[in-house]
Amino acid sequence: MNTAIYPGSFDPPTNGHRDIIERASRIFDKVIVCIMENTKKKPLFSMEERLKMLQSLARKYSNVEVDYYRGLLVDYARLKNAAIVVKGLRGMGDFEYELQMALVNHQLAPDVETMFLMTSYRYSYLSSSIVKEIAYLGGDIKDLVPPEVHSVICEKIARLKEDGN
Ligand code: PNS
Repeated sequence: MNTAIYPGSFDPPTNGHRDIIERASRIFDKVIVCIMENTKKKPLFSMEERLKMLQSLARKYSNVEVDYYRGLLVDYARLKNAAIVVKGLRGMGDFEYELQMALVNHQLAPDVETMFLMTSYRYSYLSSSIVKEIAYLGGDIKDLVPPEVHSVICEKIARLKEDGN
């Protein structure tokens, strides 16, 4: 069985993430979407909130599971017997960082390959940070995030603003 891990911060999940999940689910027998720590980022949404959002949007794909892991991606891949890590690539801005990650992970675990899916053109400008900024400043994020997670994101941002954050 061909299992791929799709790792990320997913803070929050966007239509770009959903697009990669959907396309990966058509290529691999099984896809595990795994929320992991990015030590360079401080997430706005808790692990539990992100897990629930991803579960609700992944429900319609029968071969997609959602999980979280605090540790190295390659350790998680081995734990799950997965030989493939799948990631989305938006453009040159992503490339250098993703290349470095792929090379480091391959050095740590030569049996695990990273494969990239080019982000669909219509989502090439999209990121979790942009979604948070637009929502925080009162913009409409309806077309940027999956319908299953739209209200969760808006409510969280509204609560933060109420609390003066
Ligand atoms: O969505 P992101 O923030 O670009 O995802 C990055 C992520 C979480 C996939 C990356 O930071 C990661 O793999 N974290 C787990 C720890 C790890 O294995 N780091 C790479 C070796 S230093």
